[in-house]
Amino acid sequence: MKSFVALVAFAGHVTAYPFVLEELVGRDDSSYGRGTYGSGCGNQGPGSGGYTWPGDNGACGWNGYKCPTPKYNSSAQAISQKRGNCGAGNPCTTFDPKDQLVSTSGDYAFKAPTSNQIRGPCPGLNAAANHGYLSRSGVTNNQETVAGLFAAYGMGADIAGALAQLSIEQFGDPVTQQWSIGGPVPNGGVPQNVLTNVGISYSHNNYESDASQTRCDAALLRGDAHSVIVSRFTETYVNRLVIGRGATPGNKRDAGYTLDSFAQDYTCKSQWSIDKNPVYVSNPLAGFVVAPAAFNFIINFMSNHSAENTQGWLSPSVYKSFFAIQGEYPNLRWVKGQERIPNNWYRRPSLTPYNNALLVADLLTQYAAYPESARLGCNNGRTGTYTQGNAASALSELTTGGLVSFIPAVGTPVTQLSGCPGNLYAPKGQDQPY
Ligand code: HEM
Repeated sequence: MKSFVALVAFAGHVTAYPFVLEELVGRDDSSYGRGTYGSGCGNQGPGSGGYTWPGDNGACGWNGYKCPTPKYNSSAQAISQKRGNCGAGNPCTTFDPKDQLVSTSGDYAFKAPTSNQIRGPCPGLNAAANHGYLSRSGVTNNQETVAGLFAAYGMGADIAGALAQLSIEQFGDPVTQQWSIGGPVPNGGVPQNVLTNVGISYSHNNYESDASQTRCDAALLRGDAHSVIVSRFTETYVNRLVIGRGATPGNKRDAGYTLDSFAQDYTCKSQWSIDKNPVYVSNPLAGFVVAPAAFNFIINFMSNHSAENTQGWLSPSVYKSFFAIQGEYPNLRWVKGQERIPNNWYRRPSLTPYNNALLVADLLTQYAAYPESARLGCNNGRTGTYTQGNAASALSELTTGGLVSFIPAVGTPVTQLSGCPGNLYAPKGQDQPY
C-alpha cells in the first residue's frame, strides 16, 4: 500500500486565481463574469446567488464563512496535487470509447423519479437510479448494486458490495436483504410503503455523516441531511477549480476540479462543522473514512474521460449535472430528483475500477498532505470544544484493510467514539429539535 506514493511523479501544480476562475466558471456556462466571489472558502451568502433552499437562510447557509488556510506538508502536497482524476498513482492510462461510454438512452434514458420512487442523499445512487442502472424504484439489493455501479461508474465490486452490505444493516431489510437508496431519511428510517419488515438500526454518524460537501449537518437542519444547500455547492463550484486541469491537460484556459482541490474542500467543510455544529462528530467509519471518501468519489466517478485525457477531468457543468444543479452561476438552484449522467460521458476504464486499494491510497495521500483532515473526534455540545482523538489505530486499520475492514459483521454495531453527544442525535422528523 505504501508504494503508491512512489508511483506518483511530480509535476507543477497550477493554482487558480479568483479572477480567472470567474471567467472559467462563466465560460463553462456559456456566459461570463456575473457576480463576485473571494478566494479561499468562498464568500457566498443568501441573496447573492439565487439560492432556493430555506436552509440557506438558516444554520446551513455558507454565509461568507472563510476557512483558515489548511496546514499542509509540502512534499506530500506535491504528490497530492499530481494525482489525476482517476486516483493515486494515476492508474487510468487507456481510453476505450466502447467500454467507457455510459448509455443514457433506451433502457438507460433519464427519467425523474415519480412520487413513489425513493431517492436519497447520495448523488451517485440517485443518478444511477434515474438512468436505470439501479432499480428506478430506489430499492435495490447487493447484486444489482455491484453490477449497476460498475456499469455506470466503474466502481469496484469490493467497495460496492461492502457499502451495500452496510446499507442493508443500517437502513435495509434484514429479511429480503434489500436496501433503499433513500438511506437515512429525515423521518427516521426507510419508507415503510416500499419495504416491509424493516429493522431500522440507523443512527446519525454511523454512515450518513456531518461535513458533507453540499448537504447540511443533520442536527443543524432538523434532521435534513438530504437536501443540497446551494451556497455550499456554490462555494465548491467556484473556489475549487484548478487551471490546466480540464479536458485538455495543461491548457491554461481550461479548468476542472481535482482530488487535491477537493481534499482541501473537505478540510474546509469539516472545519466549518467544527466551528458551527455543537454536536459535530467524526466517527471512525462515517467520518474518518466515508465522509472524505465521498469527496473523492465525485472526482473518481463523475469525471469524464477521453483519449487525450485518460485520467479524466471534471468540468463545472458535469459536476452540476450529477448534483441536480440547474441554472448558471450565480443563479444556481437545486432541482430535487434531477441528478443526471450527462450524454456523451465516458466513465473510468473497466480495467481500472475504483476499488478498496485506490480508496485507501487517495485517503492516505490526503492525510499525508493535509494532516488535520484526518478527523477523528467531536464537539462536546458546544462549538469551540472540538477534541481530536488519537487516529493511529484508525490509520493503521485503514492502511491494512481499507474501508472494508471498518464495516462490522452483521448484527454488530458500527464503532462510535465515546462521549460524543452527536452520536445520540437520531433524526425523527423535519421538526424534531435536537
Ligand atoms: C453502494 C454504494 C453507495 C452507497 C451505499 C452510498 C451511500 C451514501 C450515503 C448514505 C451518503 C450520505 C452521506 C453523507 O454525506 O452524510 C452518500 C453521500 C455521497 N455519495 Fe454515495 N453511496 C454509494 C455510492 C456512491 C457513488 C458510486 C458515488 C459517485 C458516483 C457516490 C457519491 C456520493 C457523494 C458525492 C456523496 C456526498 C454528497 C454531498 O456531500 O452532497 N456515492 N452516499
